[in-house]
Amino acid sequence: MNVVIFASGEGSNAERIMEHFAPGTMARITWVVSNREEAGVVHRARKFKKGIQFISTGTLHEMPNSFIDFLKCEKTDLIVLAGFLLKIPPELVAAFPNRILNLHPSLLPAYGGKGMYGMKVHRAVIDNMEKKSGISVHYVNEEYDKGELILQQSCDIENEDTAESLAQKIQQLEHIYYPKAIELAIQKLQTT
Ligand code: GAR
Repeated sequence: MNVVIFASGEGSNAERIMEHFAPGTMARITWVVSNREEAGVVHRARKFKKGIQFISTGTLHEMPNSFIDFLKCEKTDLIVLAGFLLKIPPELVAAFPNRILNLHPSLLPAYGGKGMYGMKVHRAVIDNMEKKSGISVHYVNEEYDKGELILQQSCDIENEDTAESLAQKIQQLEHIYYPKAIELAIQKLQTT
């Protein structure tokens, strides 16, 4: 299974995925795609000697077919979003049905949707004095954070937790469970 990671930021999840799917495992990370040349994920991809493909918002949304051709040409089986902040255009969703996964740092449907990402999610959860938060891995469809769920994991929020301490708890869950969720999605593809 050829897996392409899309990431815009620090890339700690991308790094865990590259570590997890080392040569000889059930998946091969073929490319890392990013919209930001200065993103931390770019350095991490270089460390793992992965090819990096940059894509601008304009190219992704105005010429999605040329990008789809690239992904198809590279025999991409699965696309894994790991903190990728551009909206996936409908053409790309249609070209890879049930083959694009997203990681979201809350228990969807809570705290999802347009504009909800990273620390914004954790601040909203803390401001609302929630007792639990967690992570969701889901398939990507045409609507933000609305695709079918693959896996969720929760954590407790203590009175003394802040958005920053919650972010750390969530990141620990993400690093353990996103690779497992990717394995589940691959197994599903192999049996259909
Ligand atoms: C992760 O916490 C991920 O859940 C979040 O971005 C972070 C990326 O961290 N994604 C979203 O909020 C998507 N709506 P990383 O760059 O260290 O992997």
